[in-house]
Amino acid sequence: MTNNQKERANFGSKIGVILATAGSAVGLGNVWRFPYMTGENGGAVFIIIYIACVLLLGIPCMLGEFIIGRHGQSNSARAYRTLANGTPWALVGYMGLLTGFLIMGYYVVVSGWCLQYIWASLAGQLQGNPDYFSSYFAAFVADPFKPILWVMIILAMSHLIIENGVRNGIERASKVMMPLLFVLLLILVVASCLLPDAGKGIEFLFKPDFSKMDGDVFLGAMGQSFYSLSIGMGALVTYASYYSKDTNLTKAATQIVTVDSMVAILAGLMIFPAAFSVGISPDSGPSLIFITLPNVFSQAFASVPWLGYIVSLLFFVLLSVAALTSLISLHEVSTAFIHEDLQTTRRKAAFIVTVVTAVIGTFCSLSLGAVEGLSLFGRSLFDCFDFLTGQILLPVGGFLTCLFLGWYVPRQVVYDEFTNGGTLRGRFFQFFLFLVRFVCPLAILCIFLDELGVI
Ligand code: PHE
Repeated sequence: MTNNQKERANFGSKIGVILATAGSAVGLGNVWRFPYMTGENGGAVFIIIYIACVLLLGIPCMLGEFIIGRHGQSNSARAYRTLANGTPWALVGYMGLLTGFLIMGYYVVVSGWCLQYIWASLAGQLQGNPDYFSSYFAAFVADPFKPILWVMIILAMSHLIIENGVRNGIERASKVMMPLLFVLLLILVVASCLLPDAGKGIEFLFKPDFSKMDGDVFLGAMGQSFYSLSIGMGALVTYASYYSKDTNLTKAATQIVTVDSMVAILAGLMIFPAAFSVGISPDSGPSLIFITLPNVFSQAFASVPWLGYIVSLLFFVLLSVAALTSLISLHEVSTAFIHEDLQTTRRKAAFIVTVVTAVIGTFCSLSLGAVEGLSLFGRSLFDCFDFLTGQILLPVGGFLTCLFLGWYVPRQVVYDEFTNGGTLRGRFFQFFLFLVRFVCPLAILCIFLDELGVI
C-alpha cells in the first residue's frame, strides 16, 4: 500500500469540499442534457419525476458513495475491493472505471463544442437565420479536424488542473469557477425571463401535463438524476476519499444535491423562456443549445446585436466552465486509480488518462459524420455512449452500490462513517439504511423492468 492516511491528499476546507463536489455534479448534465431531456419528455412532468428521483434515489446513493469513499481512503476501485473482501463485489468499482472512460469519451466532444462556440461568438459568426444555425452546427460537427482540435484543448486544460493535484488543482479551480458559473447563470436567467412572452416557457417548465407520463419519462428522469449528480461510476467515491474525518456526509450530500438541482432548474429558466419567446420548439434534442439557442439569442436581441453577442458569449463560457469542473472529476477517477494501484507517479497517470480519452474522444467525434461506420447497435458511437452510460450503466452502478452497502458491507462500518465515528447523532441512519436496502434498488429495478416491458 503506497498511501497511508497521513500522506494522502485531501481538500483543505469545508467550502472546498462542497464546491469541488458540486463542480463534479454541475456540468453539461445540467445545462445541456437536462434542458433537452425536459424538452423531449414533456416539460413539467419530467421535472416532477426528476425531483422525486433526486430526493428518493439521488441523496441516498450519493451518501452511499461518500461512505464507501471516505472509508476506503483510496481510489474508487480499491475502495470497493477492500470492502468486498475478495468477493465479486469488487467488480462494481472496475465497472465504474469503464463507465468513466465512456462518459469522458463523448463528454470531451461536447465540451469541445462549447469552446468552438465561444470562439464563434467572439468572431461574430453566430448570426443569421434558423437554417444557417443548423447548417453551421451540422458542418462543424461533421468536420474531421476542428472538433477534434477543441477536444485536445479542453483535455489539455483538464490535464493541467489534475496534474496540479487535489488541493492546488481541483479545489482551487473549483473555488474560482463555481462562483463564476452562478453569476453568469443568474445574469442569463434574468435576461431570458425579461423577453416578451417568456411566460410560456415558464409554464412549460412548471405546469404539468400528466398525459405525457410514460415509462420512457421515468427511465429518462432516473438516468438524468444519476447523470447529473455524478452517481454510479466512482467520481463521488474518489472525491469523498479526499474529505476529512469530520466532514458531515449527510449534510454535504444534501447541500450538493440542492445546488445541483437549483442549477438544473435555473438552466431550464434560462433556456425555455428564451426559446418560447421566439417561438422555437423545445424538443429538438441534443442540439437544443447549439442550434436553438444561438438562434434565440440572435432573434431575441435583433434590435441590440451587441447585447446578443455578449449574452451568447457568456452562455458558452458558462457551459465550458461547467463542463471543465465535471471533466476533472471524471479524469480524477482513473488518474487516482492508475496512480495508486499501478504504482505510477500522478503525472504519468494523468497523462495516460488524457491520451486514452483523446483517442476515445476522437472516435466519438468522428462518428458524428466524418467517418462512416463508427456505430454500435445502430447508433453513432457518440449517441451510443450517451445512452449506454446515462440511461443504463450509471443506474446499474447505483443499484449495485446500494445492494453492496445495504446488504454486504458491515453495518458498523456504514454507521461509523454516517455518524463520523459516533460524534454525530445519526438520527436518519435507520431511514437511510431502509432506503439503500429496499427503496432504491427496488425503484431502479422497477424502472428498468417497466422500460423492458416486463411490468
Ligand atoms: N454530473 C456531470 C454533469 O452533470 C456528469 C458526470 C457524470 C460527471 C458522472 C462525473 C461522473 O455534467
